[in-house]
Amino acid sequence: MINRRQFIQAGVILATLPKQLVLASARLFTNRFQVPNLEVGKRVGKDVYFDLSIQAGKTNIIANKLTPTLGINQGFLGVTLQANKGDTVHIKAKNNINKTTTLHWHGVKLPAKADGGPHQPILPGKIWKTQFDIVQPAATLWYHSHQLHKTAEQVYHGLAGLFIVNDDTSKKLNLPSEYGVDDLPVIIQDRDFKRDGSFSYLGSMMDSMRGMKGNTILVNGVVNPILKAKKSLLRLRLLNGSNARTYHLNFDDNRPFTIIGSDGGLLEKSIKVNTVRLASAERVEILVDVSDGGHPILQHTAVQVSSGMGGMGMMGNSDKDMDIFQIDARQAAKSNLSIPTHLVQHNNPEQSAVSKQRKLILQMKMGPSMMFGGDTFSINGKTMDINRIDEVVKAGSTEIWHLENTSMMAHPLHIHNVQFKVIARKGGVKGHELGFKDVVLVHPQERVSVIMKFPKFSDAKTPYMYHCHILEHEDRGMMGQFTVV
Ligand code: C2O
Ligand code: CU
Ligand code: CU
Repeated sequence: MINRRQFIQAGVILATLPKQLVLASARLFTNRFQVPNLEVGKRVGKDVYFDLSIQAGKTNIIANKLTPTLGINQGFLGVTLQANKGDTVHIKAKNNINKTTTLHWHGVKLPAKADGGPHQPILPGKIWKTQFDIVQPAATLWYHSHQLHKTAEQVYHGLAGLFIVNDDTSKKLNLPSEYGVDDLPVIIQDRDFKRDGSFSYLGSMMDSMRGMKGNTILVNGVVNPILKAKKSLLRLRLLNGSNARTYHLNFDDNRPFTIIGSDGGLLEKSIKVNTVRLASAERVEILVDVSDGGHPILQHTAVQVSSGMGGMGMMGNSDKDMDIFQIDARQAAKSNLSIPTHLVQHNNPEQSAVSKQRKLILQMKMGPSMMFGGDTFSINGKTMDINRIDEVVKAGSTEIWHLENTSMMAHPLHIHNVQFKVIARKGGVKGHELGFKDVVLVHPQERVSVIMKFPKFSDAKTPYMYHCHILEHEDRGMMGQFTVV
């Protein structure tokens, strides 16, 4: 056990060592890569029943310590739920923790009452029952707490899991699809710990303004994991489940990998890359060929942002290179699957069908609330008010929303109940942003335009949310409500 002072000294020493040495010493992947349990529910024909328990746990994450955590059907993080397009999903969620919470189905097209946002709170000891049909194609979706003003803290402690949708089209593509074998969830989160092993959340005002960024990376809840690959072609379902950090991911040997899916499902064509950017809440599915038997490390390479932060040096960029996890492919059996070029055909929303355009201006108020808490972040000059409907959308209509960021920080903007296409942004649309999306990063002084067709569900009373997915920003006002009628 080292004390804080020694720890700081060690940090100083590390900072003065050549980078090679520091990286070498940080690269100790000793923990087994774990995947959350897969839950397929109880199936009766096309009806699938999930019995969920929102619960507290104590989890051994860092050496010799137990961390108080939250989870769904397990002590930390949620089990992976899986269903098929065409299924009717029945949810029964019991709140077994002593705080009010919710379960939101992120990326799912569904009736507002089933959305699990701030309007569907589950009080301690209570059960929430809901159901929805899966009307969208195969995708890596997720679910998490969406409790008003408490989302960030609850997700940070573990109330988040994956929700995988399959369909016949994706099955025919012969992609790696054996869960835990060659089809692997990779939930990336950054956390800080106190000396007693508990999570350290919002240690400083800076954390609540920039969004909470931790110094320790967890993958599926595990620190420094090593994945002993069983197959030579791996499908990784990457979810940035971090509260605030944007990752720039690459392998340490710079090997290429293939992006096959974005937030809303498979791309039309696979894309070969060396790096991918993933903002909070974004997902990508990638295929990685490890038939060389190597041991590549997935890492985050910090990008120095030269934003208009000007005098805001204190808000400056605290980003640094971080290792995510290592793959050990020495025992990997030769996979007989290949990487397809053409994947699926998209049913794109049509420009000619657009009946309305809207503008969302993402803003940050300057002043005392910045440092001393309260609603600092707004959209169109308004902070979140659960009693105010900000936008009313026509069911089944096609709209273009222009997302304009006039603040000094990048914001990943998320819209409930839709999968949109990015049609314009600085530098053009590329990579996984060519696919269907439900969250998109908007840089300072940037305008990103998205087009979407709203599903037919309508409900004049119950709104959906749109918000920044830096969860501290969401909790501090950067959220609005829309109904679909
Ligand atoms: Cu991922 Cu409104 O949430
Ligand atoms: Cu959502
Ligand atoms: Cu934000």
